[in-house]
Amino acid sequence: MAQCRICDSVYSEFIDFGMMPIANGFLAPEMFNDEFFYPLKVGFCDKCAMVQLIEQPDREMMFHDNYAYFSSTSERMTTHFRSFAESVMSMYLGMEDPFVVELGSNDGIMLQNFVAAGIRHLGIEPSANVAQSAMDKGIETICCFFDQEIAEKIFKERGPANAIIAANLMCHIPYLHSVVEGVCRLLSPGGVMIFEDPYLGDIIDNTSYDQIYDEHVFFFSVSSIQYLFNMHGMEVIDVIPQDVHGGSMRYVISHKGDREVSPRVATLIQEEQSRGLNKRETFESFRRKVELSREQLLALLHKVRKEGKRVVGYGATSKSTTVNVYCGITSDLVEFVSDTTPTKQGRYSPGAHIPVRPYEDFKERYPDYALLFAWNHAREIMAKETLFREAGGKWIVYVPEVKVLE
Ligand code: SAH
Ligand code: TYD
Repeated sequence: MAQCRICDSVYSEFIDFGMMPIANGFLAPEMFNDEFFYPLKVGFCDKCAMVQLIEQPDREMMFHDNYAYFSSTSERMTTHFRSFAESVMSMYLGMEDPFVVELGSNDGIMLQNFVAAGIRHLGIEPSANVAQSAMDKGIETICCFFDQEIAEKIFKERGPANAIIAANLMCHIPYLHSVVEGVCRLLSPGGVMIFEDPYLGDIIDNTSYDQIYDEHVFFFSVSSIQYLFNMHGMEVIDVIPQDVHGGSMRYVISHKGDREVSPRVATLIQEEQSRGLNKRETFESFRRKVELSREQLLALLHKVRKEGKRVVGYGATSKSTTVNVYCGITSDLVEFVSDTTPTKQGRYSPGAHIPVRPYEDFKERYPDYALLFAWNHAREIMAKETLFREAGGKWIVYVPEVKVLE
């Protein structure tokens, strides 16, 4: 039993993944003995419909000056954030001297578009190494965790923001009430907050349980987001599904009554009810599917290894930490994981301690099977890996179901 971070009700877990390490905590061998583990369990609050981790490690353990995730490693996401930025500029920033603030701006993948358009901007990013990478690109960034206090400071020093944007950030923050209060204070009258995060409906539909790891403390639906913002005198005025990260939802929020509400909001809330996203049974059935997925993936990996085939992981994602540790996958089954991020290369995956090697190692000697950990970038990856397929290589995927792509 735990207390809901949004509405204070008591709620209980529906799935327990066991002890887990920090998902982005890639290790040097001398760090193996001191690796930190915490219990990864997820619960559903019947009152406000928020799905959330029972326990989350302290934020400084996840976001620091050696944070492994650089957003700009994906071309697809670079294009996606360019079009996100363009739609914000064209729809909401037509006024004189607009001001845009991004929360969780990482290496500047989104804000670089506002810089190019000469728009007054500010990024808030607590992980110093990725924040520095943004600053090197000329993006104004404050290195800190956003909350109510920081919002007040920005408001006093720079005035109100016409748009506050965020991607894959809100679902990381357990103290959301402080964040939403801060947004409410910083946002100008008529201003909008626009953010997107992996969508609970897609996680359930695709059994993409690997979206569940330390950083993702919440799994949002339109219903739970509406509940949260209503508590702070704000409302959801539009919702737009996004085809990234395995299915995300973009939420547009304003001060209550400031703007017209799209009929899409009520339609999606209605749809969530018919899909059972407000019912415990839905999450119990999700758990059974997750257990089956683990059985099937292990059976497949053992089978091909018995046949003497080589399996290499593709993309040392944070998501894969949950898969590897929950399924008990180690380097006996997956020889190494190929990744293009220099800070991950030469290190070992959290918990499972599978070596992470540069992409060149994958290309130099193709394995028989590539286990697609970065499945959310499947289209981009498949398009550039035609030679692997031509050489007889096969993909193993596990979302939405375990299979070999022949
Ligand atoms: N927006 C980027 C990065 C997402 S990863 C993208 O979509 O690719 C989440 C980012 O949020 C990390 O860079 C992390 O350091 C940052 N973060 C975590 N807590 C935060 C907080 N309270 N305020 C602002 N940023 C935060
Ligand atoms: P991603 O799935 O975006 O995020 P998360 O860590 O949140 O689960 O991470 C993709 C990882 O895969 C990142 O480390 C970069 C790597 N990658 C490649 O190695 N090759 C590629 O072609 C792509 C698109 C990503």
